[in-house]
Amino acid sequence: MGRVLVAFGSSEGQTATIAERIGDTLEDAGHDVVVVHAKHPPAELDPGRYDGVIVGASIHMGSHQSYVESFVDKHSEALNRVPSAFFSVSLTAAHPDPDDREPAQEILEAFLEETGWEPDTTLLVAGALKYSGYGLLKRVVMRRIAGKAGGDTDTARDYEYTDWDELEAFIDAFRALLPDAPEQS
Ligand SMILES: Cc1cc2nc3c(=O)[nH]c(=O)nc-3n(C[C@H](O)[C@H](O)[C@H](O)COP(=O)(O)O)c2cc1C
Repeated sequence: MGRVLVAFGSSEGQTATIAERIGDTLEDAGHDVVVVHAKHPPAELDPGRYDGVIVGASIHMGSHQSYVESFVDKHSEALNRVPSAFFSVSLTAAHPDPDDREPAQEILEAFLEETGWEPDTTLLVAGALKYSGYGLLKRVVMRRIAGKAGGDTDTARDYEYTDWDELEAFIDAFRALLPDAPEQS
């Protein structure tokens, strides 16, 4: 059914959770899956040797993790040779109005422009507000940002906005690109 590489960057853990979910879903569908943290990928890792690659990163202060950018930059030729997909995790993606999500789309496109990678499919994924995991300063800053955006400000709890059904559809679209993919009905 094909070997798939999932590489991700994550600062507070939500993109890691999403990458693991993608890996589990692909494994359940019969694929051989390797999930790696893009900050410390195995030295011998060659994305070009996989049948397909998914990369994910989250947005902090207006950009994706620089180590994910370095990873994609380094492997852009290989990534452009195999079926590939990119997902970008942010709070901006949680806005219901597409106009309000536009800044996240612009950051995603700038990332691809910078790296020269042309994935077959992309997705903006709504992330999480993990107040319980933030230090005091980060909690205060994030509460203020969330408040300004009309978001959730009760720092006594965490919030997850990820739309798992939308993620499933993204995985299905990616699987359809793989060699020997079953015909879509
Ligand atoms: C310090 C900090 C800065 C952030 N900056 C942005 C931002 O500029 N734009 C945005 O849409 N989301 C921003 N977020 C929200 C994150 O993208 C969101 O919490 C995401 O789920 C983080 O994913 P991760 O846990 O995989 O790092 C920020 C979050 C933190 C904690």
